Amino acid sequence: MNINKDSLAPIGVFDSGVGGLTVAREIIRQLPNEKIVYFGDTARVPYGSKSKENIIRYSRQIIRFLKSKNVKAIVVACNTASAIALEEIRDEIDIPIIGVVKPGAKVAAANTKNKRVGIIATEATINSNIYTNVIHENDKDITVFGKACPLFVPLVEEGLLEDSVTDEIAKRYLEELKTKDIDTLILGCTHYPLIRKTVGRIIGDNVNLVNPAYETALSLKELLIEKGIAAGDEHQYENEMYEFYVSDIAEKFKKFANSIMPFNIDYIHQINIEEY
Ligand code: DGL
Repeated sequence: MNINKDSLAPIGVFDSGVGGLTVAREIIRQLPNEKIVYFGDTARVPYGSKSKENIIRYSRQIIRFLKSKNVKAIVVACNTASAIALEEIRDEIDIPIIGVVKPGAKVAAANTKNKRVGIIATEATINSNIYTNVIHENDKDITVFGKACPLFVPLVEEGLLEDSVTDEIAKRYLEELKTKDIDTLILGCTHYPLIRKTVGRIIGDNVNLVNPAYETALSLKELLIEKGIAAGDEHQYENEMYEFYVSDIAEKFKKFANSIMPFNIDYIHQINIEEY
């Protein structure tokens, strides 16, 4: 049998921390035969308030690390890195790479009825204007309202998913967006689906929340098929389908990951990402 060697290799998925797990779990759901190597940059989270230079440097290091694990494709499961670094580094690597912004913007543009879309994300993502630009590539008549929510990432990393503090901060952040008559709100940071309930309750039932993870996994599926590197059924792995790496204390990440992933993770590897 002529097995495509690449199809046996894992997919590399990365984020600044736990947020990218929301994308990883969607990939696992839609592509159950694919192996995953996940990296969470827990030593350097949050990315959203960092400079462009640093976000690009971090992304390059992580890609070098993931490539050392022989990944066949990379998913930038971080809106901030997708917005700031992806186009800059795309030409530097020889394997397929996708981010989360384009898939999310596309689905929001297709879903809005009144052509008024809100986007909540990190400061870096909002300031890059990338969501507005990509939405306008899909439909230039859509009005986009952006709001940076810098405290959401630390709240999620601290595990305060259902908490009065998170509620209070979400109320302040979403106050202005509530006056804009939006019918669609993009959760433009991969950490935010973890506080989806809070955001949904505050923004109201009439606003459709878009989590780009679903569309990203779908885009990945199409990409792997197009490149002829999708894992077939015959490549089912019993063990070690998924490997998790972090750049700081593994225990905290493990606890969190175990609370949101569909299986129990026994071991998380801690590495020094500055070596890559
Ligand atoms: N989860 C990431 C994102 O989607 C990064 C958040 C951060 O580190 O500030 O933007």
